[in-house]
Amino acid sequence: DTKHNALASEEGESLTSKIPRREGWWRPLFLFQGSWITPQVLNSAMLVQAQFKPRADDIILATYPKSGTTWLKALTFVLANRSRHPVTGNEHPVLTQHPQDLVPFLELPDRALHPVEELEALPSPRLLCTHLPYALLPPAVTSSAIGCPIVYLCREPKDVVVSMWHYVNKHYLGYWKQNVIDPSRVLFLKYDEMMADPTKHVKIIAEFLRVPFSEDEENAGVPDEVVRLCSFQNLKGLPVNSTGKVDRVGGLPMENSSFFRSGKVGDWRNHLTKEMANKLDCIVQEKLKGSVLRG
Ligand code: A3P
Repeated sequence: DTKHNALASEEGESLTSKIPRREGWWRPLFLFQGSWITPQVLNSAMLVQAQFKPRADDIILATYPKSGTTWLKALTFVLANRSRHPVTGNEHPVLTQHPQDLVPFLELPDRALHPVEELEALPSPRLLCTHLPYALLPPAVTSSAIGCPIVYLCREPKDVVVSMWHYVNKHYLGYWKQNVIDPSRVLFLKYDEMMADPTKHVKIIAEFLRVPFSEDEENAGVPDEVVRLCSFQNLKGLPVNSTGKVDRVGGLPMENSSFFRSGKVGDWRNHLTKEMANKLDCIVQEKLKGSVLRG
């Protein structure tokens, strides 16, 4: 079905034969619009660019996998829906639905089926998530004319490596540059800094999402309550997140609990040797050379 698999068509195959390619450690990599990506990501980037119709009031969450996507999904869902779902109380959707299911992905990298119709059916304002690099977002998302706000969360690459035994650190430079150019459009967050002071960051995200806390909410401690509701300990302990297996990407059923492993800053120290850590630091420094951003 070519609608759901851009590379399956003859046109797609002749396209990939023209795109620069090299072997990756896991899958072959294609150089597409400045990013080295797997065929799966290439497929979804082409589909998203061709079919996704952004709305001006969409909010896009962007991350590299294993950087805290689940946490950011929970936090932004709770913040954006505060008027419908009060943060205090026993009935919040975060208590009964996995955060991965509260905010849909634009792309589903490992399966052919693309959920554009499902995205179209969502009411505005939509909260949507992506793992695509900035350069591969559809031009309409990044154009100043439409101007979807984007929240980008990155994480110490060595912790990302340990979290998924795999990393690509170039991903976040595009978002960083855009955040420097236009901070009102792209909010750039760091997992380690969020862990260090979650309440401060919850207030920053709420402002950016244009749902700032009122004085009454501040006095009532609502920002701290959002932090507690979405905390690693609280989410990890909920039955919806600690039991069961769901196939969210097609052909790869995952334990719901696998999104909540240890939730620590610096866990890489328990898994990488000094030599491995130095090597990774060098790669990250090299990749981020010329930007104020440090790995
Ligand atoms: P660890 O494997 O280091 O524990 P993603 O959601 O992008 O797949 O990232 C998963 C990582 O975020 C895992 O890291 C997971 O434990 C951590 N995580 C999940 N929920 C979290 C939360 N509420 N607060 C902090 N970290 C969280």
